[in-house]
Amino acid sequence: MPWAAGVVGDLAGFVASTYMRGISLIQVPTTLLAQVDSSVGGKVAVNHPLGKNMIGSFYQPQLVFIDVHVLKTLAPREVRAGLAEVIKYGVIHDGDFFSYLEGQLQQILALDEGVLSYVIKKSCAIKARVVEEDEREDGVRAFLNFGHTIGHALEALTFYRNYRHGEAVAAGMVAAAEIAVERGLLEEEEKNRLKKLLDRAGLPVTVPLAADEILSILPRDKKARHGRPRFVLPLALGSVNLFEDVETDEIRAALERCRKTE
Ligand SMILES: NC(=O)c1ccc[n+]([C@@H]2O[C@H](COP(=O)([O-])OP(=O)(O)OC[C@H]3O[C@@H](n4cnc5c(N)ncnc54)[C@H](O)[C@@H]3O)[C@@H](O)[C@H]2O)c1
Repeated sequence: MPWAAGVVGDLAGFVASTYMRGISLIQVPTTLLAQVDSSVGGKVAVNHPLGKNMIGSFYQPQLVFIDVHVLKTLAPREVRAGLAEVIKYGVIHDGDFFSYLEGQLQQILALDEGVLSYVIKKSCAIKARVVEEDEREDGVRAFLNFGHTIGHALEALTFYRNYRHGEAVAAGMVAAAEIAVERGLLEEEEKNRLKKLLDRAGLPVTVPLAADEILSILPRDKKARHGRPRFVLPLALGSVNLFEDVETDEIRAALERCRKTE
């Protein structure tokens, strides 16, 4: 069976969107990340030396075929990286789902098919609902970028070699939660719950690079507006909002707290 993980799905999707001005596309994702995220929503792109996902389009598949059995051969590290995006859905949209993940984490990591099917369906439903409302990312679709502002910086600064995408997003979610706590938007206890779940899932919860290095690259983020980074910040486990007014000092302070392992 050919593998259509995130990278292959993005590439094949982009080719399908341009070949003969577009041919039918069916996504058959085989990593957890591709099943819960990249195969749904229609974003297809390839990287360019000037930036990640620089050449691409929006192109909806006619069908996404997901078989949880294929995850049995997936490396545990890849399963954990996909789980970061699943946890993200709980934070941005559904506090009950977040609690469910806290309770079922061991079954998920053990690839229990019943639990996994539920988790994948729920994740796809959340993503589909957001994309239906805002396909072109003029509004709520940006919420899906929770953890991605710092996450993308980590990936770029380490030349896409050190982090799986989901791992960088995990550390980015903790950094965003730190900013939210400092702004009085999120209870410290909620941030700790997020950090603990990510940690139990074997995902990074610290940002080991110097704050200045990260700050220097943020204005180049594709999502930045007039050189100002945009942050999706949690207000609670289950609710987020988009902020374009996060000051450099706030980001620096949060990153410094994230360097500590505790
Ligand atoms: N289009 C989108 O909306 C979107 C969203 C999130 C991420 N992405 C992109 O997705 C990419 C990451 O995708 P990914 O996490 O699927 O990684 P990946 O495509 O690199 O696959 C990870 C590894 O797993 C292997 N593999 C795939 N399925 C397997 C299976 N069933 N058993 C054993 N090995 C298997 C692959 O050969 C590869 O070595 C990144 O480039 C990211 O930018 C796109």
